[in-house]
Amino acid sequence: MVSTEVLIERVHTGDVAVAALDLVDVGGNPAVMARAILLACEAITAKITETRAEVLAHLERAGVPVDSAPATDLQQRHTLTLEVADASTAMQAERVLVEAGFEPWATWTGGARRSFEHHAGQRTVVRSGDATSVVRLQWQRQAAPSSGIARVLRPTEADWATIELPTLLWRSYPVVRVLRLVAERVGLRHRQNASLGPFLSTPVSLLNPLLDLVDATSGDTVVDIGCGDGRLLEAAARRGCVAVGFERDPVLAERARQRVTDAGIGNRVTVITGDARGVGLDDADIVFVFLPTDVVARLLPDLLTTLRPGARLVAHEQNRLPAGLHPLPDERHMVVSEQALTVAHVWRR
Ligand SMILES: C[S@@+](CC[C@H](N)C(=O)[O-])C[C@H]1O[C@@H](n2cnc3c(N)ncnc32)[C@H](O)[C@@H]1O
Repeated sequence: MVSTEVLIERVHTGDVAVAALDLVDVGGNPAVMARAILLACEAITAKITETRAEVLAHLERAGVPVDSAPATDLQQRHTLTLEVADASTAMQAERVLVEAGFEPWATWTGGARRSFEHHAGQRTVVRSGDATSVVRLQWQRQAAPSSGIARVLRPTEADWATIELPTLLWRSYPVVRVLRLVAERVGLRHRQNASLGPFLSTPVSLLNPLLDLVDATSGDTVVDIGCGDGRLLEAAARRGCVAVGFERDPVLAERARQRVTDAGIGNRVTVITGDARGVGLDDADIVFVFLPTDVVARLLPDLLTTLRPGARLVAHEQNRLPAGLHPLPDERHMVVSEQALTVAHVWRR
């Protein structure tokens, strides 16, 4: 008997559409699920194919050369990889795509940006409508680190985001990094990157299925940790919940407020601009988290200890949660809509 566990595993490790194909002939629920998965994968593939054509046309018109646009991305994800010559071509492509409605996943200025251009190998832009499209602009890193030590000393995204160094001093960054690592190891300094992850929206068609999983009903208080453009808050408020979102990016927080005001449900929604780490969740019935899995693992113990009995926490992601995660989720569900799919992990207090 085929279980949804098998399908969830395939979401994590590979092309779930292939697994679904094996299941369509199986009777009962797995076959229904398999058909839904195939339809969702078809919709995702159609969308990303359309986006690929659109993006390539924009870049061609602007004279930005793209070396290749391999069509090998997993069918279940809205991610498209374009290979470009170098960092400056990627930046040029990014500017063109921003004009076409994409948003850069991260921005740096001054020395951090120079360091990024020297050390990084990819740049990502995202467009979040009903469906999400992620475009990864990838190039061969000039200063590819050869040894393990060189890799450890290379600045990370968190470093570019948190360290304010004059341009010249970025050259001596390896020394700063060693000091940071030592200070963190001996507890003199804590990692200060306030970002829990970039903005990537939950596909609209998955919002209600996810809220159904945790029985979100009228009167419940739903908290979204990193609420982005407020789409989950809107879906929760539309079913009569009180919705509270924390968002550190003021532009997104404002977009979320505007969204619920436009929908006429602003009175049931509060959007707080600021850092969601360490916020009190004692009033929450449901906490929603859509963040990278390593971040979820890190936040989990604190989030769960602040939850009152009966409250539920739901985290969704297509990637597997890290090994050694504690506590393990009480439930795992594959969530499929006509246009998207994800895996939801639920903890119940
Ligand atoms: C993956 S998005 C999820 C958006 C939304 N919850 C959804 O499901 O559509 C993560 C969001 O968390 C926000 N974020 C990152 N770090 C944060 C922090 N420390 N406090 C509050 N929000 C944060 C990001 O700006 C981003 O909008």
